[in-house]
Amino acid sequence: MVKLGIIGAMAIEVESLKAQMKDLQTATQTGMEFYEGTLDGLSCVVVECGVGKVNAALCVQILCDRYQVTHIVNTGVAGSLSNALDIGDLVISKDVMYHDFDCSPMGYAIGQVPRLSVLRFPADETLQKLALEAVQEVYPGHCSTGTVASGDQFVSNPQVKERIISNTGALCTEMEGAAIAHAAWRNGVPFVVIRAISDKADDSAQMDYPSFEVMAADRCAAVTRAMGRRLCEM
Ligand code: ADE
Repeated sequence: MVKLGIIGAMAIEVESLKAQMKDLQTATQTGMEFYEGTLDGLSCVVVECGVGKVNAALCVQILCDRYQVTHIVNTGVAGSLSNALDIGDLVISKDVMYHDFDCSPMGYAIGQVPRLSVLRFPADETLQKLALEAVQEVYPGHCSTGTVASGDQFVSNPQVKERIISNTGALCTEMEGAAIAHAAWRNGVPFVVIRAISDKADDSAQMDYPSFEVMAADRCAAVTRAMGRRLCEM
């Protein structure tokens, strides 16, 4: 049976999903509140994990050990790394990597965790396809598929942005996706990251982010919900 773990870092990224759930049971672990129930008939666990990579990885391990989720989706906002992506547009992860993992003095590429067989954690192809179909249903024409780059850093400096683009080739940057992907990958659980653009990760980001985060988070949650409906029908 499918059981979907839905992770957002912040309340605005998951509260509309929580509000739509039925048969609800809640439990708190490591300070995170896990909402277990159904969403449009799909068994799922929705959780606000908090910002950053450690929170995100902890959350995935709890979803795997305690709730035995079969799939994981990370929904939320991101800074755009591509001129083709405007505020409000959606990104579906083809793969996810760290932009701030740096063992380059030891000969590793930026992002590479030493002794791990992958640099980019590949998102599940079925979840990618369902997420893409969900975007076509909810916000047709506003979606790209590619690399998502994560780090413990709100990117608002154009030079940092350029460095991340040249190191990763990513479409957008955020602060949890790679840790979620890494932890899901180690647990053998298929995942996808769905993000909506809230800012351009440059010197306009500090102005744009507060203005657009709620709109972008709502958009992403609507796509995540539509993807869940499709997963339920499979
Ligand atoms: N999430 C949304 N915008 C972001 C940015 N510019 N940097 C990191 N995470 C983000």
